[in-house]
Amino acid sequence: MLEVRDLKKYFALSGGRRIRAVDGVSLRVQENEILGIVGESGCGKSTLGRLILRLIEPDAGQVYFGGEEITCLSRSVLRPKRRTMQMVFQNPFSSFNPKIRIGAALMEVCRYYGMSIPEGRERIERLLRDIGLSSDLLNRWPGELSGGQLQRLAIARAIIAEPSLLIADEPLSALDVSVQAQLLNLLDDLRASRSMAMIFISHDMTVVEYFCGRVAVMYLGVIMELITAAELSRNALHPYTRSLRASAPRLDVFKDSVEESATPIHGETPNPHVLIKGCPFAPRCPQAQPFCTDALPELREASPGHWVRCSLF
Ligand SMILES: Nc1ncnc2c1ncn2[C@@H]1O[C@H](COP(=O)(O)OP(=O)(O)O)[C@@H](O)[C@H]1O
Ligand SMILES: [Mg+2]
Repeated sequence: MLEVRDLKKYFALSGGRRIRAVDGVSLRVQENEILGIVGESGCGKSTLGRLILRLIEPDAGQVYFGGEEITCLSRSVLRPKRRTMQMVFQNPFSSFNPKIRIGAALMEVCRYYGMSIPEGRERIERLLRDIGLSSDLLNRWPGELSGGQLQRLAIARAIIAEPSLLIADEPLSALDVSVQAQLLNLLDDLRASRSMAMIFISHDMTVVEYFCGRVAVMYLGVIMELITAAELSRNALHPYTRSLRASAPRLDVFKDSVEESATPIHGETPNPHVLIKGCPFAPRCPQAQPFCTDALPELREASPGHWVRCSLF
C-alpha cells in the first residue's frame, strides 16, 4: 500500500554545510502490517515520517500510496488524500490547542473531512468508547488531562477519518511506563479492528521487537537492516542492530533470546554534521574492517525478506 523510493532530505546549516537527515531510504508497507523504524535519537526517523506524509518536502525520491505517486501532487490534490494517512506525534501535551475544548478540537477534524455535525458527533462518541475514555472529557480543556488521556485522544483524532496508514512517532516516549503498555495494546486493537497499517517509530528496540511485524533499523539517515521482528533474536546480522539489541533493557519475556556474542553499543551518538565516508557506523563498529570506510555498502538481501547493509555479509 505504501512504497518509498530513495527518499532524501538534507537540511542546510549555516556555513553551507548540510545534515543528511534522510539519505536514500526505500521501503514498503503492506496492508495491515506494523513496520517498526528504530534507531538512536537524531538518525532521521521523524524526518522520514514527515516526508512520507509530505508534511515536509523531500529533496529527492518518491512516495507511492496505493500505487499512486503522491510526491508530485499539488497541495490541493493532496488535501483530500490526507485522510488516508495520519500521524501521531511524540508529545501529547503539544498536540492539542490549549484554548480549544477537546470536543471542539475533534469536531473540527470531522468538519474538515466533510462530515455533518450529527455525523461527527456520532463518530466521536463511538471513537471515545473504542479508546476507553468517557464522553465527559469532551467538555474539558487539554490542560486538565493527563498525558495518557491526551495521547489516547491524539490517536482518536488521527483515526477519525479512518486512515489506512497511521504513522506513530514515538507515541509512548512522553508517558509513564504504566501507561505505555496500555497504549500499545490500544494501538494494536485499533489497528486490527480497522485493518489499518502502521509505521511505528521508536528508539526502543525492546518495544519494536515486541510490537512490530517487521523492523527497519536506521543509522544516520540510512536503513542498515530490514528484518522480521521474529528473526531479530536469532538472525540479526548488522553489527549495529546487534549492538542496539544488546544495549536495550531486556524484559523478562525476552530473556531466553539474548545472544551472548553481541557487544553493547559503545561510543558517542554520531555527530550528523560530520560527513562520514563509507559505512556511517564504522567508527563505532566492533567488527569494522579497513575497507568499511571505502564506500557505503548496498542494502543487500541476505535471505528472502531480510536486508542488510554491511560489507561483512
Ligand atoms: N528542520 C530541521 N532543520 C535542521 N535540522 C533538522 C531539522 N529537522 C531535523 N533536523 C536534523 O536532522 C537529523 C534527524 O532528525 P530527526 O528526524 O528528528 O531524528 P530522530 O527522529 O531519529 O531523532 C538530526 O540531526 C536533526 O538535528
Ligand atoms: Mg524523532
